[in-house]
Amino acid sequence: MASADAVISIRDLRKSFPTADGGRITVLHSVTFDVMRGETLVIMGGSGCGKSTLLNCLIGELPIDEGAILYRTNEMEEAVDVTGLREREFNNIRRRMGILFQSGALFNSMTLAENVALPLREHSYVEESIIDIVVTLKLQQVKMLAHRDKMPTQLSGGQKKRAGLARATALDPEILFYDEPSAGLDPVTSTAIDELIMDLSSKLQVTSVVVTHEMDSAFRIADRMVMLDKGRVLRIGPRSDFESIRDADPASLSTADDRLINQFLNGYSDGPLTDAEGMSEFEKLIIGTALSEDRTTA
Ligand SMILES: Nc1ncnc2c1ncn2[C@@H]1O[C@H](COP(=O)(O)OP(=O)(O)O)[C@@H](O)[C@H]1O
Ligand SMILES: [Mg+2]
Repeated sequence: MASADAVISIRDLRKSFPTADGGRITVLHSVTFDVMRGETLVIMGGSGCGKSTLLNCLIGELPIDEGAILYRTNEMEEAVDVTGLREREFNNIRRRMGILFQSGALFNSMTLAENVALPLREHSYVEESIIDIVVTLKLQQVKMLAHRDKMPTQLSGGQKKRAGLARATALDPEILFYDEPSAGLDPVTSTAIDELIMDLSSKLQVTSVVVTHEMDSAFRIADRMVMLDKGRVLRIGPRSDFESIRDADPASLSTADDRLINQFLNGYSDGPLTDAEGMSEFEKLIIGTALSEDRTTA
């Protein structure tokens, strides 16, 4: 069942990928949580734990193996499971989403203004004169109007992110998805992007789902947080819950999960994350490869 004020309800989601030896590897195991209307939910976890995969399942870019993803946008009477929908039906819901990918993903052959106008031209029947007004507003919102006729290659990383955000908001989305919005940016620019995310969230009253492994950023912007580990939800709760675990003495934490979260949030190198047992498949793979290379060179 979907919760009444949830915009997205994820239920027992399982996602696997084929492996080179003809098998399959499960990267999301029975993931269940809700995204509530108007909140900023941050999805955290180490590299390879499944954050981007989860995001791609939510936006309909990847099919899932099992479970349900229910959406209830403003105009919907009740929640709809999108996992069974056909492309055309899902597009009505997808139009309510704005997405800022890891790369920013602007088209280098177009000016900023043309990049922002693109979703309007593709997904709406708005006249060119109106498109021009919307583009101006959206670029103004991210403080990039002065650069409207520039090409993406003339911009810094932070400016590209801003422009990407102008494009993501072009169709006045209800839900904004971000994948590592501050990846590759210096701390000052990254803080400015965080502020923009919070600003858009309050001004546009959107629901924001942000994937990140940068803890400073996560604690700045989150209303609630989800911690993933090896494709499983370790914990979901308000930011204050995670602050308490982060600031606790590890020895005082009673569960293995909480000790793991404490280690992750503080970036400690010792603890359950780095014990062989607690290692992610990804980490085991890397360390396993290093060990076998050691052996062959010895
Ligand atoms: N298209 C794919 N085919 C096979 N394996 C994939 C694919 N995409 C992701 N994976 C694997 O799924 C796991 C989770 O990846 P990802 O969601 O990108 O992690 P994160 O974003 O948390 O770093 C990783 O082990 C990754 O190698
Ligand atoms: Mg990722």
